Amino acid sequence: MIDAPSTSAERPLAVVVLAGGRSSEHEVSLASGASVSAGLRAAGHDVVEVEIGRDGRWRRGGEELVLAAGRGLLGADVAFPALHGPYGEDGAIQGMLETLDVAYVGSPVASSALCMDKVLFKDLMAAHGVAQVDHIGVRSERFAREPAAVRADAARLGMPVFVKPARLGSSVGIAKASSEAELDAALAGAFAHDELAIVEAMARGTEVECGVLSTRESARAEGEPAAIVSLPGEIVIEAEWYDYAAKYEPGGMHLEIPARISEQAAAAVRALALEAYALAGCEGLARADFFVDGATVLLNELNTMPGFTPTSVYAKLLDASGIPYPQLVDRLCRLALERRARERGQRH
Ligand SMILES: Nc1ncnc2c1ncn2[C@@H]1O[C@H](COP(=O)(O)OP(=O)(O)O)[C@@H](O)[C@H]1O
Ligand SMILES: [Mg+2]
Repeated sequence: MIDAPSTSAERPLAVVVLAGGRSSEHEVSLASGASVSAGLRAAGHDVVEVEIGRDGRWRRGGEELVLAAGRGLLGADVAFPALHGPYGEDGAIQGMLETLDVAYVGSPVASSALCMDKVLFKDLMAAHGVAQVDHIGVRSERFAREPAAVRADAARLGMPVFVKPARLGSSVGIAKASSEAELDAALAGAFAHDELAIVEAMARGTEVECGVLSTRESARAEGEPAAIVSLPGEIVIEAEWYDYAAKYEPGGMHLEIPARISEQAAAAVRALALEAYALAGCEGLARADFFVDGATVLLNELNTMPGFTPTSVYAKLLDASGIPYPQLVDRLCRLALERRARERGQRH
């Protein structure tokens, strides 16, 4: 028997779970979507699963959907976009759901787009003095025009550097470069995915992640903070860095909860997770990722729709903080409805 949600007194909802999507994280999303659907059913909700193909088409039970602006989504109360990466986590789907006029789980358009774009995100965090690795954004057009100037800018970050497509995920297209030749190759690799790349100084230490979850309005009314943050978890890997294989191959990583870091570092991580979540305008949930080296805590990124199976880092962190999976997905749907009700009260 799975724990009943604390909100079981509320009426069951009709939820459309969106999974798959156009990005290279399609398969990961299918696993997230299946888990979300099972969790929602365990929490008593009616679920309709919609699969978005790599071709971008939306299908229910193999049948293509025809959607119309302002007409909602299959009569659902809430959509749960269990989608990762471009066209899923980057504001595109969120904009589509706004246009359809249906409440949806997670961050709104701008916040989703911001957190997906590693350059924009780091620039915003830098403007607020958040500690993070030094970085430069590089457009493919500029690298083609003035490669020597780009190499000189990158040299100021030291070696090695991490080179990434600005707007992707799951470590796809990321390379560590230890020489100028490797930098060139890494940039070419990143540009195959995105015309904007980011080059980052290498951070030392352990990777630590926290789950952030927004608080229901009823709890806020009683003085609870706007969001809660889980215990920090530590990513333990054999690989040199947390690449795609380490993320998704069985045994590729182990999550240590709580992270084996000092009390002060843990407190800093949790405070920074909440601060970044608020600064980025996140709603519902996010996973906040850090590099921790002794007392030094650097923010890496926020993921607005992190991998979402019960064995994914986010769900494990929340579970360890006392929120079991069915309760988690239930709360996210309720939060989506609360946000929509608030927005309905605003004039546009
Ligand atoms: N600046 C960095 N210093 C050290 N390791 C890094 C750095 N950037 C990325 N990495 C390694 O690459 C992984 C993936 O990078 P990340 O920026 O989190 O991209 P993604 O969005 O694909 O998860 C990180 O979890 C870490 O292992
Ligand atoms: Mg990451």
